[in-house]
Amino acid sequence: MKEIIKWSKDLETGISTFDEEHKTLIETLNEVYSLLENKESEKAKELLRNNIVEYASKHFKHEEEIMEKYNYPELENHKKIHNMFVNMIVNKMLPKIEKSDSEFRSVVSFLVGWLVMHIKNMDKKYGRWFKENNITINDEPRL
Ligand SMILES: [Fe+2]
Repeated sequence: MKEIIKWSKDLETGISTFDEEHKTLIETLNEVYSLLENKESEKAKELLRNNIVEYASKHFKHEEEIMEKYNYPELENHKKIHNMFVNMIVNKMLPKIEKSDSEFRSVVSFLVGWLVMHIKNMDKKYGRWFKENNITINDEPRL
């Protein structure tokens, strides 16, 4: 399978349940990319439409629940960014993938880029905060 992104250690938040969910999201984006590369754009579209929004929303909700439970100080800002991202997928990205395969490809690159940036900048930040505050999360992954 052709991959657009590889999981690497620098994406680790230190919270295994969220790392697992991030891996699932990345795997799904790789599947979309691979289908697109194999000229199976209809299947790729279906996967993006049916799974990505749902997975991202479930995962974000899980993160937000845990942040809320432990009074993470940056919860509100983090939540805002999650919501903006989901709205952008639904309102801007999903219509775009219908236009052409090259637009579709650019959407996939954008989603991958966004996710990597978000994990590195924002998710790793809560990872450090939980660690500094000696909080251990033992939740099961939800994806
Ligand atoms: Fe997040």
